[in-house]
Amino acid sequence: MSALRQPDGCIRYCGFVRGMRIPVLKYRISKSFSTAVEPTERVVQVAGMFGLGLDETREVVVLDNVEMAIEPGNVVYVTGQSGSGKSVLLSELKKQMSDWLDLEALKVTLDKPLVDCFAGELSDALYYLSLAGLNDAFVFLRRANELSDGQMYRFRLAQAMSAGPKCVFIDEFCAKLDRITAKIIAANVRKFADKFRTTFIVATTHDDLCEDLCPDVYVEKLFGKRCDIEYCPDQR
Ligand SMILES: Nc1ncnc2c1ncn2[C@@H]1O[C@H](COP(=O)(O)OP(=O)(O)OP(=O)(O)O)[C@@H](O)[C@H]1O
Ligand SMILES: [Mg+2]
Repeated sequence: MSALRQPDGCIRYCGFVRGMRIPVLKYRISKSFSTAVEPTERVVQVAGMFGLGLDETREVVVLDNVEMAIEPGNVVYVTGQSGSGKSVLLSELKKQMSDWLDLEALKVTLDKPLVDCFAGELSDALYYLSLAGLNDAFVFLRRANELSDGQMYRFRLAQAMSAGPKCVFIDEFCAKLDRITAKIIAANVRKFADKFRTTFIVATTHDDLCEDLCPDVYVEKLFGKRCDIEYCPDQR
């Protein structure tokens, strides 16, 4: 395997994976926050209660030289407790990657029936909606501004997949959905990644999707700078 350092600091490896010569991108991520507190009356009281100093700036390290290798078409599944650093990890990865789409930032049409919001044939619209777990005839005909939060989430996912992205970032992946629907969508995301070699980088506190998502890279973000990364090649 040969390595070439890119201008953005990440290392591009060229190697043979599953018989094909493809680039493997390796990222190195560090992130910390400096926190200085404004000494309001209540802040001073709390600091007194817990014996904390107010004059010093504290540095909170969330990620410390975390190395991750991500191939095109990989599914990266980031889990961990609330506040452990999943969103920070995704934001930092975004800075180093290009050609990605963020589900949260995706703009969708609100005032047209869902089936009219996709390019191509009707069958294409039904395909993407079903992939995202929206396969109810009545929902097909509804407008996005008439959907529940969970249905809206699934519509956004359908729109994201129909855009043919190279890489999709999804924070709070299926977090608000019932777990049966979440598992169906996770399995569809896996199939989509394999079929179109789309990379998915998803994060959620729920750790019940491993079996369906079959991640290539499983990241457990722990509190502080701890981060466990497991590579699960060719599990499928
Ligand atoms: N701009 C910031 N300044 C200071 N600290 C920050 C900032 N952004 C995030 N943090 C801290 O970094 C840590 C990780 O935050 P992050 O949002 O990544 O957590 P998370 O794992 O995504 O949590 P959740 O599951 O609740 O979304 C938290 O302790 C948070 O307070
Ligand atoms: Mg988060």
